[in-house]
Amino acid sequence: MLVARYLLTGFVLALAFVHFAALTMIQPPSCPPECICLSQTQVLCNSGGLREIPVKLLPSTVEHLSLTRNHFPIIKSDAFAGLRYLRKLSLDGNNISIIKPFAFRGLPRLRDLSIQQTPLATVAQFAFAGLQNITSIYLSHNKIKKVEGYAFAGTSNLKLLVLTNNPIIKIESNAFSGLTNVERLNFPSGVRVLEPDAFNGLDTVGFLKLAFMDLPSLKEGTFRGLTNVGVLSIQESDLGVIESDAFDGLTFISNLYILNNKIDGIQELNLTQEQRIGYLKLQGNHILEIPRAETLNIGVDKLTVIANHFPCDCHIHSLLEGPLANGSLLEFISKNYCISPLEVNGRPMSDIDIDSIGRCQEEVTRGNLEASKDSTSMCCKMKPQLSILLCSFVAVFGNLR
Ligand SMILES: *[C@@H]1O[C@H](CO)[C@@H](O)[C@H](O)[C@H]1NC(C)=O
Ligand SMILES: *[C@@H]1O[C@H](CO)[C@@H](O)[C@H](O)[C@H]1NC(C)=O
Ligand SMILES: *[C@@H]1O[C@H](CO)[C@@H](O)[C@H](O)[C@H]1NC(C)=O
Ligand SMILES: *[C@@H]1O[C@H](CO)[C@@H](O)[C@H](O)[C@H]1NC(C)=O
Repeated sequence: MLVARYLLTGFVLALAFVHFAALTMIQPPSCPPECICLSQTQVLCNSGGLREIPVKLLPSTVEHLSLTRNHFPIIKSDAFAGLRYLRKLSLDGNNISIIKPFAFRGLPRLRDLSIQQTPLATVAQFAFAGLQNITSIYLSHNKIKKVEGYAFAGTSNLKLLVLTNNPIIKIESNAFSGLTNVERLNFPSGVRVLEPDAFNGLDTVGFLKLAFMDLPSLKEGTFRGLTNVGVLSIQESDLGVIESDAFDGLTFISNLYILNNKIDGIQELNLTQEQRIGYLKLQGNHILEIPRAETLNIGVDKLTVIANHFPCDCHIHSLLEGPLANGSLLEFISKNYCISPLEVNGRPMSDIDIDSIGRCQEEVTRGNLEASKDSTSMCCKMKPQLSILLCSFVAVFGNLR
């Protein structure tokens, strides 16, 4: 018994000595047993079976830290506190389902962060907040369904945010608020909800591409607060109905591309000169209803409308006289196509005899009511109801001729 105690004490002392030696004399670098410390700045803890981040055991000087294929289910707030020199961090292949607010706080030098191949489903509020000096965040191949508001608050130097290969269906209001210097922002396909103000606070973006969305409508205020964009490209999507004010509050956009979408209708498209939209390119869209001329205000510097398909119905006159054609009638009809009627589907507008298409009843009526102020037109000397009837009769009859 006594011997055993001596032995034990000796052992403890020896251990303490080794530990002491380690700390004071030889100062061998601390390194978690599951990791390989290539140097005091580079540490690999890949496939280490770790369930927690061994932040206390890591050299505080570490610059590159790789923690791939471990078993962290959660990244707590301030999970890496103290690693002030960290520049590059990889957490790929972990079982991360939650990132708490301010998880990466206290990492002023962190530039590259990769969290890929994880079951992460939500980019929660403030998850990546306060990463002042980060340039790239890679979040591809996760299970991200939604990005909550202010997820990137204060992350003002981010240049590259990769969200591809995620089943994102919803982008909440203010999701990208605080990103003020992004070079390129690409979204995965399948977005079904863009909340109003989804891009609010997103300032100075080189290229913002929204593709393969499936929206019931482009809601009022969707782009409100988005400013200083090189290219905003909305493409290959079902946009449903473009609501009035969908583009309200979108300012300083060098190039706005609306390419190859299906658009059920345009309630109003009001791009004012104050919004400073340089170039609007409407190309390859199928627009199922011709927007009424008075709902369009295209205050842009340069406009291209080509390879779109419109119904060639009685509203075509209003389209050709309106701001989308902008006076270049021949050019417009040779470069845009008819969707309907069926027999002209896919044919250039210039193939059909536009004059043979009657004007719509309301246009005819309106025209005549305006004319009534001064003209001697026989329609217009009558009571309005009668006039509508007679004028539409005249219109129809005129077309049959
Ligand atoms: C991953 O995390 C989930 C929930 O946190 C848990 O149910 C599951 O067992 C974990 N899987 C592995 C392989 O650790
Ligand atoms: C951010 O990076 C720049 C340039 O690399 C550096 O000068 C600056 O000190 C960094 N900021 C912080 C808080 O470390
Ligand atoms: C466009 O918006 C401006 C300012 O918001 C408004 O004054 C104008 O009437 C609108 N134009 C159309 C065609 O809706
Ligand atoms: C519309 O046509 C006018 C006259 O040709 C031209 O000055 C103007 O720049 C055109 N507008 C756009 C947006 O292209």
